[in-house]
Amino acid sequence: MKVLIASDHAGYELKEQLKERFGSEFEFEDYGTHSTESVDYPDFAHKLAAQVATTPNQYGVLICGTGNGMAMTANKHAGIRAGLCWSKEIAALIRQHNNANILVMPARFIPTETAFEIFSTFFSTEFEGGRHQRRIDKINL
Ligand code: RB5
Repeated sequence: MKVLIASDHAGYELKEQLKERFGSEFEFEDYGTHSTESVDYPDFAHKLAAQVATTPNQYGVLICGTGNGMAMTANKHAGIRAGLCWSKEIAALIRQHNNANILVMPARFIPTETAFEIFSTFFSTEFEGGRHQRRIDKINL
């Protein structure tokens, strides 16, 4: 399965750790950044979100310090449902209830092992549909 992934400088290390840990199971397409040099998170979130929004069944992962900048930016794109996650329970729920197509993680506030659990849970949990589809249909303005 192909997964688009991007981070700013605050999320760079976690991005690399995720690629290393899950690289044998997932094909990562890395949208940057490529070092810990300071960058602006919207540049990366916009590029990745535009691609996810226009590619059927495509999922992405965004990482910054708090996760909020990435989530705020990605959710400006129609069709993007980017969910900020700090536990595996939330990772399951943003798939089951929100049909999230972008997983966002706050690198500065979660241990690496938690990030790995979140990633695994997100990509092994299905959308439940039903009443949740009705609610998702009401998101876009
Ligand atoms: C970078 O210092 C930090 O502001 C960024 O990673 C993120 O937390 C923004 O939402």
